[in-house]
Amino acid sequence: MSAGPKGKSLGGRRGAHLALTDLVTEEVPPPRTLSGIGELDRVLGGGLVPASAVLVGGDPGIGKSTLLLQAAAQFARAGLKTFYVSGEEASAQVRMRAQRLGLAKAPVKLATATALRDILTTLEAERPDLVIIDSIQTMWSDIVEAAPGSVSQVRAAAHELTSFAKRTGTSVILVGHVTKDGQIAGPRVVEHMVDCVLYFEGERGHQFRILRSVKNRFGPADEIGVFEMTGGGLAEVANPSALFLSGRGTPAPGSVVFSGIEGTRPLLVELQALVAPTPHAQPRRAVVGWDGARLAMILAVLEARCGIPFAGLDVYLNVAGGLKISEPAADLAVAAALLSAREDTALPANTVVFGEISLSGALRPVGQTENRLKEAQKLGFTAAITPSGGKTGGDSGLKLTRMGDLTAFVGDIFGA
Ligand code: TYD
Ligand code: MG
Repeated sequence: MSAGPKGKSLGGRRGAHLALTDLVTEEVPPPRTLSGIGELDRVLGGGLVPASAVLVGGDPGIGKSTLLLQAAAQFARAGLKTFYVSGEEASAQVRMRAQRLGLAKAPVKLATATALRDILTTLEAERPDLVIIDSIQTMWSDIVEAAPGSVSQVRAAAHELTSFAKRTGTSVILVGHVTKDGQIAGPRVVEHMVDCVLYFEGERGHQFRILRSVKNRFGPADEIGVFEMTGGGLAEVANPSALFLSGRGTPAPGSVVFSGIEGTRPLLVELQALVAPTPHAQPRRAVVGWDGARLAMILAVLEARCGIPFAGLDVYLNVAGGLKISEPAADLAVAAALLSAREDTALPANTVVFGEISLSGALRPVGQTENRLKEAQKLGFTAAITPSGGKTGGDSGLKLTRMGDLTAFVGDIFGA
């Protein structure tokens, strides 16, 4: 007999089970609600999915509360019964913000609370379509003894709220503060509990903010939305490429425009490099907005395959505007910026660059060539340097210079 100690049953209930085929009903995509904030809707994967749990993380002060109050107002206007629960600010403060944003009359219900039990009791009674919890670090569950903001509290609160979402069909958006040093229990512990993880990023001193999906069960990840922080809240940036290229005059040495893809959208960004003799025994390699290891690789390839040494030289690489790029397609643009800085020679004007570099020094074609070229053409560029072997991008109208390897590129562009 397979029973527990002393022949007693284990006390568990037998779980129901289904055959996989039982689950195949007709494939209806879940009805989504659009906020009308296009940059947000796209990052969500095409609007808000009912019963979904979304985490919006970001540094304190980046604009999460602002964004979500604006989103709450828009979703409420779109017909969703919306609750905004603030555990950080008094209702007067939230009202003041709403006024400043011109949203004082939006049909959003506002609550200031931190006791999870009270919040869930209210939500059970009200059954809203959307709840925004600002922030998950302030929530406090009485079934856990730890202090608010600790990992176990954050995990417990997120678990209860996401279960509520699944059980009732309410969509839940959780705000989570991220701290660089990880002192406070970051939203990382929450990431695997939710359907969608968005990070709100931006550089201090810059006006614009980027909302990036790093996980999305209902749409593509790596999608970005671009906003600008104004006196009246966050405004959508309709043409982000123009933003990241702003201030471009005559081409300067070390500056190269990369035609990238962020999520489903092309985006032109300026890469800037500075190469200078080092006063130190160990030259500096500093990079902002790109992968440091990838920079080291490109420096190594330039040295080993093209015979261009960077020993004794400090190298700085910066993605203008504070954007973070992760595409290998930026390799060639990075190499171009490094060479241009090192040779103190500007690239031809109105030229975009993209392509992946392999360790052999060969240039590899990258995806979405057509979109990259089309975006460049739209923004007034007239030429592109790309790997050969890829698509030609139809009739983008750009003058294409297509190269098979890095040595050819160095010879052709810099006459080295
Ligand atoms: P906030 O949304 O409170 O950030 P978070 O919730 O991520 O901590 O935004 C804080 C900053 O945004 C604050 O420095 C003031 C600025 N801000 C504006 O510039 N314009 C506005 O309309 C609002 C509401 C805030
Ligand atoms: Mg806030």
